[in-house]
Amino acid sequence: MAENNMNDKERYLDEIEDSIRTIGVLTSGGDAPGMNAAIRAVVRTALSRGLKVRGIRRGYHGLLKEEIIDLSARDVSDTIQRGGTILQTARCQSMRTEEGQQKAAAICKKYGIDGLVVIGGDGSFAGAQKLANLGVNTVGVPGTIDLDIACTDYTIGFDTAVNTAMEAIDKVRDTSTSHERCSIIEVMGRDAGYLALWCGIANGAERILMPEEHDFDEAAIIADIMANKKRGKKNYIIINAEGIGDSINMAKRIEEATGIETRATILGHMQRGGSPTCKDRVYASIMGAMAVDLLCQGKTNRVVGYKNGQYVDFDIEEALAMKKAIPQYQYDVAKTLAL
Ligand code: ADP
Ligand code: F6P
Repeated sequence: MAENNMNDKERYLDEIEDSIRTIGVLTSGGDAPGMNAAIRAVVRTALSRGLKVRGIRRGYHGLLKEEIIDLSARDVSDTIQRGGTILQTARCQSMRTEEGQQKAAAICKKYGIDGLVVIGGDGSFAGAQKLANLGVNTVGVPGTIDLDIACTDYTIGFDTAVNTAMEAIDKVRDTSTSHERCSIIEVMGRDAGYLALWCGIANGAERILMPEEHDFDEAAIIADIMANKKRGKKNYIIINAEGIGDSINMAKRIEEATGIETRATILGHMQRGGSPTCKDRVYASIMGAMAVDLLCQGKTNRVVGYKNGQYVDFDIEEALAMKKAIPQYQYDVAKTLAL
C-alpha cells in the first residue's frame, strides 16, 4: 500500500506487523484478584491488533519448563469475574540466575514471543527487566494485593483484598464486642503496611501496627487498652501487619498484662482469593490493554502504572528505584479517630 494512501489506523496496524507478531503473557509471584481480567485484556487486545497470543503457565517457572499454550478469545471467556489466575503462578529461583535468564530469553525466541506481558510485583518486574536486556520486549503490569509498587498508586488485587479483610475484621469485631475482648488481627502485606493502614481506618481499629512504624511501644498499647476499658469501650482492635507478625505471642503478653481476654486472628490467604471488585476488573482491563499497546508501539522494558489520576508507563529500572512511603497524615487520622 502506498504510504500516502494509508489512513492513521492502517499506518498503525502496518507498523505493528513489522515489529511484533506474537505476544506472550504470564502471571508471577503471589496471585491477586483481577489478574484474570488483565490476562483477558492482553489476549483480546492483542488478537484485535492481529497478533498471536501465547499464555505461559506458572510464571517464570513455567517459561523455563516451556509450559506455553496458544490463547484464543474464547479461552478467556467467563474469566473476568474469577479470582486467582487461570495461568497459575509461581515463584522461581532459577530466574534470579544469569543462566536461568538466558534460557528464558532463548525460549521466548524459540516460541516466537517477541513481546511479553508480565503481570506481578516488583520481583516479577526485575525478571522482566533482565529479559528486556536480553532482547525480549517486555512490559510489566502491577498485580499484587500489597500495594507496595512505588511507581503506581494502584496495584491490581488491592481493592478486593482490602474489602475481603475489612469484612472479615467486621465479623471478628462482633464477637470481640460480645466478649469484651481485645482482638489482634493480622493482615498480609509482606513488608508493607498498606493493607493494615486501610483496614485500620475502614474498621475503626484502636491501633495499627505497620512495618513502616516499627518502633511501637507495647507498654503504651497495654496502658491504652486499660484506659480504653475505663472509657467504656467494649473491645480493642489491633490491626497487625504480617511484616511485624508475632500476633499470637503478642496476644498472650497483652492478656497477661491487662487481665483482658485477648485473641489473635491471622487472616492469611483468604485475603488473596475471591471474585475481583469492579475497581480491580476495570484497572486490570485498562492496564492489560495498555501493556499490549505499548509493545505494539515498539516500547520495551516498561511498566504500566496509575499515578495522579492517569494511566502512565515508566522504564522498569526507574520504576524499581522509586520509593513509596505510608502517607503520614492518613496514619495520624486513623489514630485520631480511634479516640
Ligand atoms: P512479586 O513479583 O510479587 O514481587 P517475588 O518477589 O516473589 O514476587 O518475585 C516473583 C518472581 O520474580 C521470583 O520468583 C523470580 O522468579 C522473579 N524475580 C524476582 N527477583 C528477581 C531478580 N532480581 N531477577 C530476576 N528475576 C527475579
Ligand atoms: O505478595 C502477596 C503476598 O500475599 C504477601 O502479602 C505475603 O507476604 C506473601 O504474598 C505470601 O506468600 P505465599 O503465598 O508464598 O505464602
